Amino acid sequence: MIVVSTFWQSNFAPVEEMGEAVLVSNVNGAIPDDFPEGVYIRNGPNPLFGGLKSTNSMFGRSSHIWVEGEGMLHAVYFNKDSGGSWTICYNNRHVQTETFKLERGRQKPSFLPAIKGNSPAILSAFILNMLRFGKINKYISNTNVFEHSGKFYSIAESDLPQEIDIVTLETLGNWDINGAWKRPFTSHPKKAPVTGEMLIMGVDAKKPFFELGVISADGKRLLHKVDLNLSRCSLCHDIGVTQRYNVIIDFPLTLDLNRLIRGRPIGVMPRYGDANSVCWFDVKRSSAFHVFNCFEDGDEVIMWACRARGSIIPGPDLGLEKHEWFSRGFKHTRSVENNSDNPDGLFFSRAYEWRLNMTTGEVVERNLTGTEFSMDFPMINENVMGVKNQYGYSQVVDSTASSTSGMAKYRGLAKLYFEEPELGSSAEPLLSPSSEVSMKMMVGSSDSYTMKTLMYLSCLILQVYRVDTKKFSSEPVATITLPRRVPYGFHGAFMPLSSPRSTR
Ligand SMILES: [Fe+2]
Repeated sequence: MIVVSTFWQSNFAPVEEMGEAVLVSNVNGAIPDDFPEGVYIRNGPNPLFGGLKSTNSMFGRSSHIWVEGEGMLHAVYFNKDSGGSWTICYNNRHVQTETFKLERGRQKPSFLPAIKGNSPAILSAFILNMLRFGKINKYISNTNVFEHSGKFYSIAESDLPQEIDIVTLETLGNWDINGAWKRPFTSHPKKAPVTGEMLIMGVDAKKPFFELGVISADGKRLLHKVDLNLSRCSLCHDIGVTQRYNVIIDFPLTLDLNRLIRGRPIGVMPRYGDANSVCWFDVKRSSAFHVFNCFEDGDEVIMWACRARGSIIPGPDLGLEKHEWFSRGFKHTRSVENNSDNPDGLFFSRAYEWRLNMTTGEVVERNLTGTEFSMDFPMINENVMGVKNQYGYSQVVDSTASSTSGMAKYRGLAKLYFEEPELGSSAEPLLSPSSEVSMKMMVGSSDSYTMKTLMYLSCLILQVYRVDTKKFSSEPVATITLPRRVPYGFHGAFMPLSSPRSTR
């Protein structure tokens, strides 16, 4: 029997769908006149039937983990009328994958949890799910949203993107590039500079473990697909692109693998290369989920990413109590660079640079930020993706809060200056002590604006900050209170639209 748990509380708790977009009238301050029209849209887990599920049987127990909630899109629309007045609307809606529709049609949880639990229970869940529904697990499209060739997609890396009507948030179906890509699809596809082609990868638990693809700029054709012939599932989460190269990041994402594997975890491959043309580089033991940017500089390919000593995914045989291990991993420590297996500061993540020399094979590595704060969920102005950029943004983790809760709490934003001749690389934090979590995104074709959402216990505050070339503004220019709470989630983006009105 499948049991719906009730432990999901506070801002982890799911919310109901709005049903239709509503006008947002609670706005303090003013949206700037030169702010672009469009939609800020964010994805995240929002379990169907009200909570995570677990099951007990003769084979043992299996249960869902937080990331397995069904994807829900939260969209804030910015529309300017002919008189220059702003209209703001909010809507939310589940991403309706095939398995979502199946379970909703049955009006009860149907797929057995198949990620966490006793091994026999997980194996039996795989088999029973496959026998009953033709899939070993349900598909939850809950991680990111992206645009390609004027179309919009929701994605989680275990399956195909779901095309979304950006105005109504209706799910239009799988995007398999006209049948050419029928396997997992990364949550972080990258648009190549100049050509506009989209670089993707698909990591699977079965062979082929890692395939890389290039989609045409018009989104209609898969121009290239190659198996990298990796010998294991690598759990890669992000990928890099430059004008001529694809940058493959193969850091093992579980601590156990990190101990076992001493590989060459960064590979650079010509855009249309194959497994034999990848140039692999030896680097220090690291874990990096997310990339700021990659670009070419003479003989070198440079990657900037958020790098920690070890992975936040513990693996099955950690040998420590998990709560303590997580607490110590997020601990603020100035000795984050020791290479022992000491869990203190293991997840302390900083902006980091790898300079990969394509001629000599040499690597030069360095931290770009100090030990003042940990950061992840990086982003840049996407118009400079794949070419040298000057600024980057990331979320800042509140390390002091984590020491008591065992969970990382995002406290604000950091703006990074990658190129400050007199100072070297540096970062400027914008911290918000009252927030529980923040999501950030950048709007416009330059570094003109950063939008920041601050999550409180019972509502969502969306704040718009003006950002000049050097500093964050200290106060938001507009604070928008949304009509419904937005649970903790993952990635979001601002999509410029010429007619973003969402009322149906
Ligand atoms: Fe991600």
